[in-house]
Amino acid sequence: MEKLGLNEIRKMFLEFYKSKGHLVHESFSLIPDNDKSLMLINSGMAPLKPYFSGLKTPPSKRMTTCQKCIRTGDIENIGYTERHGTFFEMMGNFSFGDYFKEQAITWAWEFITTVLKLPEDKVWATIYLDDDEAHDIWRNKIGMPEERIVRLGKEDNFWEIGIGPCGPCSEIYFDRGEEYGCGKPDCKPGCDCDRYMEFWNLVFTQFDRGEDGSYTPLAHPNIDTGMGLERIACIMQETDSIFDIDTIQHILKDVESVTGVRYQHGKAKSDISLRIITDHIRSVTFMISDGILPSNEGRGYVLRRLLRRAARHGKLLGIEKPFLADLTDVVVEVSGDAYPALVEKHDYIKKIVNIEEEKFAETLDQGTNILNSYIDELEKEEKSILSGEKTFKLYDTYGFPLELTTEILAEHGITADEDEFNDLMQQQKENARNRRKDDAEIAWQDENIGFFNEGEPTEFTGYDKLDDEARVEAIIIDRAPVDEISEGQEGVVILDRTPFYAEMGGQVGDRGTISSGGSVLRVTDTVKAKDFYVHKVKAEKGSVKTGDTVIASVDPLFRHRTARNHTATHILQAALKKVLGSHVSQAGSFVNPDELRFDFTHFEAVSAEDLKKIEDIANDEIARFENVTTDVLSLEDAKNSGATALFDDKYSDKVRVVSVGDFSKELCGGTHVSNSGQIGAIKIVSESGVASGVRRIVAITGDGIADALRRDEAVISDVASALKTQPANLIARIGSLEEEIKSLRKELDDIKSANIGNSVGDLLDSAKVINGVKLVTAKFDGLGIDELRAFSDELKSREKGLVNVLAAVNDGKVTFLVSVSDELVEKGYHAGKMIKEIARAAGGGGGGKANMAQAGAKDASKISDAFEVAEKLL
Ligand code: ALA
Repeated sequence: MEKLGLNEIRKMFLEFYKSKGHLVHESFSLIPDNDKSLMLINSGMAPLKPYFSGLKTPPSKRMTTCQKCIRTGDIENIGYTERHGTFFEMMGNFSFGDYFKEQAITWAWEFITTVLKLPEDKVWATIYLDDDEAHDIWRNKIGMPEERIVRLGKEDNFWEIGIGPCGPCSEIYFDRGEEYGCGKPDCKPGCDCDRYMEFWNLVFTQFDRGEDGSYTPLAHPNIDTGMGLERIACIMQETDSIFDIDTIQHILKDVESVTGVRYQHGKAKSDISLRIITDHIRSVTFMISDGILPSNEGRGYVLRRLLRRAARHGKLLGIEKPFLADLTDVVVEVSGDAYPALVEKHDYIKKIVNIEEEKFAETLDQGTNILNSYIDELEKEEKSILSGEKTFKLYDTYGFPLELTTEILAEHGITADEDEFNDLMQQQKENARNRRKDDAEIAWQDENIGFFNEGEPTEFTGYDKLDDEARVEAIIIDRAPVDEISEGQEGVVILDRTPFYAEMGGQVGDRGTISSGGSVLRVTDTVKAKDFYVHKVKAEKGSVKTGDTVIASVDPLFRHRTARNHTATHILQAALKKVLGSHVSQAGSFVNPDELRFDFTHFEAVSAEDLKKIEDIANDEIARFENVTTDVLSLEDAKNSGATALFDDKYSDKVRVVSVGDFSKELCGGTHVSNSGQIGAIKIVSESGVASGVRRIVAITGDGIADALRRDEAVISDVASALKTQPANLIARIGSLEEEIKSLRKELDDIKSANIGNSVGDLLDSAKVINGVKLVTAKFDGLGIDELRAFSDELKSREKGLVNVLAAVNDGKVTFLVSVSDELVEKGYHAGKMIKEIARAAGGGGGGKANMAQAGAKDASKISDAFEVAEKLL
């Protein structure tokens, strides 16, 4: 067989299907688009689902791709076998209601036998039990001998994922030879042994599986095929291990040279580590190139896990420094031609890997030490389960991943109590959720509105107006509908139309008044419940009844200041993308009249220099007086116009696109200023991390900046007057104060030393003589251990034959110091032994050498008892 390289096979496949009228489409991103059921793309057909289901029209009825895929279902086993990796490529040809079974099988056969030139007698086919049509094609059109067509059951030859398009399939196998087999006479595809290797799955999606489990034939059946590129490369290169495939071997060689460890093609621990690093660095490089960032959730967490697992195995192989970023070079080298984004984003990929690796190095050291101490403890006690509490502590306090804990534990034959761990995790999540609930005060909205189902949705007129005439549709007080709200009462009011913006998309609800004649309701918040705008009100004057005609007036200052901040948020987002890169995307936002808060994805703290740039760019845009315009477009047109959107969000068919000149274009339902100049200016007041990979900027605008300045001025002036100087002289004043403190400290030290000298004489005079030994006992308040030592040294230098027992009390805690003169040490007196009993008398313990020992104790009231113990000991 011809030894074809992996890159070569990919090219041949795509060219072949191109020649059969297929549109060659580049691999889709690893991040599923609008598919909540999948975390990462895991097969060639996954990104094409909308074409199969008919939700979208495909650009061509015949398509072919080589799709990057990641499967992490059995991540713990990766590295332990030679056939599995987390990253792989799946080649496929697809028919959307175009050709069907016969064409799919004959082209597959043609590709296998004329392009790859596999020996025909080594190729086998399996079909679904009663799929006679497929049998007929293989047997009569292809001419495959009866004995090489194997009928298998549903678990092998029927392809379905949940509900939706599905159908029987035919799998193609390669016979690797008897030497790989189990030797049983009936060994054939479907057998558990290694002889027959499946490499291509042809799925005949001809049914639609309903939620009730029914199979309805599709009007236009489809074809979905998947051939594992690494699998076929193994066959062509006559190897059993994906790690021997040309491109992957190239990566592995690099891992060998970085680690200085040789690969032995076997089961040695070092082989496992080498395979783990080789596989994971492929996944990591591709994931980052598709815009995934390490985080604690979702795919970000998958990335983090892979990266950390690889880093740890590097450590096991003896690498001390970060090494993974450099290893991405070889991945880009072998796959860059087929995936140009790898080359384009190489620097960025390296940066992310590096940051994560360095961050992890700290976590790893600390976590491993703690975990090792747990393991020691368990081994001593001959136990084999680590408590969920300790496992959770490692995870929660030290950021040590659970999988790593279980993997390291497994190396010692220990398991973690994962049930308890999960309970603790659940508890923590619930606490967080409850906190959020309190914040949002969501509870009253839908509940209160429950009965009001029949009414027409509220018409929102607030994009153009701040005042509008409306009819009162409903009044609710204490959860019950009423006809009237009177002075002093609180409740909620629903109108047929309203200019009040209801809290949405991070923008707070409007405030203002609803009035009728002389009656006034103060609107303290506006929220949306179902299709209704709900005004939370307090009746300030008079009363309002249902059916009344009222004037709803939004507080213009509240609205304008909020709008100013909202438009500023858009400008800020565009400026962030400009300065930090296109990976920046919105992770959350909050806008009220006082400030704006914008959360975005980014992997590190934004430097002061970049913050200044961002602020400058945003302020330039404001000073340019750009018009802010709104267009209502179809979702498709909006996306095509390049508008920024949170594609995770649900949008309706028609969307609003808000543009600030040519600088920013975003899908947004909020209220905005009409010209950027109305913002006045923007000032970033803080930048911080809110979650891993998510940063937060808080900023203020317009007269909000003047307010902030005044607050700062007041603080500065208070500080200046407290320091008895003028604001302009603050720095000099602080400098001279520091000098003064330094010289006072020195003076104090001198006085203390002199004092020690004086009291030493007194202490020696008061010494008791017991059995020829002079015992000095003394208690001090507020002395540190260094000062106690100085005391003891001074005592010993003045007289011979001394035992000193000194105690210092600080914040109720006692420190004992016992020292023994050298000539007494020679006679067998031992400070370390004495202090044990002395400290015990005051509820403490300690130890030390024969000439000097130190101990802590809790009970300051027992110091004299401790001194008595010293006397007795002598
Ligand atoms: N979608 C089929 C598979 O992944 C081809 O096996």
